[in-house]
Formats: sequence, C-alpha cells, structure tokens
Amino acid sequence: MSLLPVAVTGVAAGGDGLGRLDDGRVVFCEGGLPGEMVAVEITDSRRDFARARVVEVRSASPARVDPPCPHVARGCGGCTWQHVAAGHQPALKVAIVTDALRRLAHLPDAPVTAGAAVPMEGYRTSARLAVDPGGRASYRRRRGHDTVEVDSCLVAHPLLEELIVSGRFPGATEVVLRVGARTGERLASPDRLAAGGKGRGRADVPPGTHVGRRSFVHEEIAGRRWRFSAASFAQTGPEAADLLVVAVGRAARGASGPILDLYAGVGVLGGSLAASDEAWDGLVAVEGSVPAIADARANLADVPHARVVGGDVAEALATGPLEGFVPGIVIADPSRSGLGPGVVDGIATLGPPVVVLVSCDPAALGRDAGLLVRSGYALERVEVLDLFPGTFHVECVSRLVRK
Ligand SMILES: C[S@@+](CC[C@H](N)C(=O)[O-])C[C@H]1O[C@@H](n2cnc3c(N)ncnc32)[C@H](O)[C@@H]1O
Repeated sequence: MSLLPVAVTGVAAGGDGLGRLDDGRVVFCEGGLPGEMVAVEITDSRRDFARARVVEVRSASPARVDPPCPHVARGCGGCTWQHVAAGHQPALKVAIVTDALRRLAHLPDAPVTAGAAVPMEGYRTSARLAVDPGGRASYRRRRGHDTVEVDSCLVAHPLLEELIVSGRFPGATEVVLRVGARTGERLASPDRLAAGGKGRGRADVPPGTHVGRRSFVHEEIAGRRWRFSAASFAQTGPEAADLLVVAVGRAARGASGPILDLYAGVGVLGGSLAASDEAWDGLVAVEGSVPAIADARANLADVPHARVVGGDVAEALATGPLEGFVPGIVIADPSRSGLGPGVVDGIATLGPPVVVLVSCDPAALGRDAGLLVRSGYALERVEVLDLFPGTFHVECVSRLVRK
C-alpha cells in the first residue's frame, strides 16, 4: 500500500478532513481532523478530487480521542465521529455550516453560533437497522454492505439498547426500533418476518414491545405527550426534541399570529409553539407522510384552532388548502434535500414577517438560505445544535426576517 502525506486543513460536510494532494487536487480524508498531518491511502481518484482513508496520524489534533465505543474498531458504521472529542464537535459543525453558507448562499459573514448539545451517551431512541441472517438487528459496516452485530450501543437509550441486543426478527432484512424514553413504551417494525407454524412469523422482543408497521409509542416532549408511529419521523430522542423546540421558540421571538408549520411530522415544532403562548393564534401543519399525518391529527387535537393539511408542501402552497391563510410565522423543517426554489417562492408569496428554517443538511441550508435572501429575507442568525453527537450530522435553526 502506498501512503501519501497530507496536511488536513478543514472539514467537509460529510465529516471527512480536507487537504490537498501534491498535484493540487482536494482530497477528502476519512478519519482526518483539521490541523493534523496524516498519511492516507487513496480509495477513489477523480479528475478534480480524490477520496482517501487515514492510515497513520503523524501529528494529532487535540480534538482526537480513542473512540469510546469498542464496536468502531470492529467496523461499525453507526457513528462516524467517535474519534472526535465531544467538546470539539460543535465547533467543527459550526465550521461546516459557515462554509456552506459562504459557498452556496454567498454569505461570507453569516451569523452562525454553536447551540445546545445532547450528551453523547444514551441519547438515541429510534434506529433503523439491518437484520442479519440470524435475525439480529445489526449496524451496517462503515464500508461495504455487511453488518456488524453489537452487544452494546453507546448512543442508544438503555430501552433501545436492550431491544437492539436481545430482539430477534427472523426473516426480516430491516427493522425500525423505537422507544419512548419518558413513557417506557417500545415498538419494533420489521420489514417482514419468516412464516411461522400457522403462517405467521414472530418477532422475539422484550415483554410489552408493540410489533408491526402500525404500532406506535408515546414520548414526552416540551411538557406534552406525543404519538409517534413506527414510520413517522422522530428526532434522535426527547432531549434533542426539547432543545429543538426551545431553539425554534428563540428564533420565533417577536412574531405572533397564526403559525404555518411546513414538513410538520407528528406536529412537535408547531404544536409546542402554538401551545406555549396565547400570542399564537392558530396553527396549520402540513405533512406528507400518511402515518405522520394521523399522528399529527391525534397530537394536535387539543391545540386551539389547529389544522393538519395532509399532502405535499409545494402543492399545498401552490393550491387550495392554504388559500386566505396569512401566517405570522412559517416554520419549515424539510428533509435532507431542503426546500428548493418552488417552496421558497411559495413562502415568499405568503410573506410571513419571520421564517424559522430548520435544516439537517448544510448544503441544503446554504441553498435555501440563499434563495430566501434573494426573495427578500435577511438571515439574522443560525444556531447549530448538536443533536447527533458522535456523528458529523448537524441540526441548524435559522431565523430569517422579511426586509
Ligand atoms: C425532518 S422531518 C421534520 C419533522 C418535524 N418537523 C419534527 O421535527 O419532528 C421532515 C418531514 O417532512 C415530511 N416531508 C418530506 N417531504 C415532504 C413533502 N414534499 N411534502 C410534505 N411533507 C414532506 C417527512 O415525512 C417528515 O415528516
């Protein structure tokens, strides 16, 4: 194996260290940290850039630690930043987001700050895992498609960890496991089960665990009880959701009137804000996933003047269901692909004084913030929460105000 020396000078959105090869090409160094001298093995060489794996760290960053989880050394791909000290992760995430806003939104001085973080251990309450031929829930390997069976999981809540380690799902290839950390409820939703004696397969799970695609758990977030079906989106855990609700409340300050919650999931962000203060005058939540729409309708039933619109956000903005609705604020929390030009146009046409954009992908945030700024909004602040410690993933809460 021929090794190349690289000085790592930055960090890429996918968590790799960034450096340059002698021929000037950018190289993405898996396992490298800014400030380090490393020796890498090239894994993919393209005309404009290369990808590489760090084989030796010749001078280590003070941010580098031995991964606390033993399964990293066995190839588990569940957590990508276990080699980064927890205290250093927020600053690296701020650097990733700042760079995306500079490159993609053309905002060189975007006001980006590190927000709150959840503790690195035991924070996850949901996992979508592969199932190995023995029926065990397993993580995917960092490289390749094989699985790694684990007998513990540092980031999983103890109720979830027990389900991962002791559950058996014969015949399944994938399983969603979810727990309510504050209610003690659990569910398992395998994609399929081997046919049992009477034509029905069985999952072997701890007593009281609900099994099946239609199963749900309840969780307590921001002082309210929420229903989450197996297929509905959930934040990494209730502490993460609490922090996100608080950050959205901060970004919403000064606004009042009706709330429009786009990509509402089971309704947590808009519902918590609407229930927090009488200044909020009604809520329309728009969500596309059928199980999440049903959860949102159940969850928001006691929120005054709340309505759930089921369907595509772009269509809802372009056609009937929002006709005549004048929001005082729009909360938009899209999936990784972001809002895109059509949805930004729809929001700008409604013209709310404040937009709170929640983004889990730095590049999508860069694109969407650029579009909103060109549509007449000023980016006042971006808070980067660390709701996924041990990984490079970010959660950004941006406040944009109409100019
Ligand atoms: C990142 S989640 C946010 C959910 C919620 N705000 C929360 O914090 O729990 C994005 C949500 O958008 C929904 N979604 C994705 N694309 C959509 C679309 N085009 N129209 C409507 N909903 C969509 C997904 O089903 C998912 O529930």
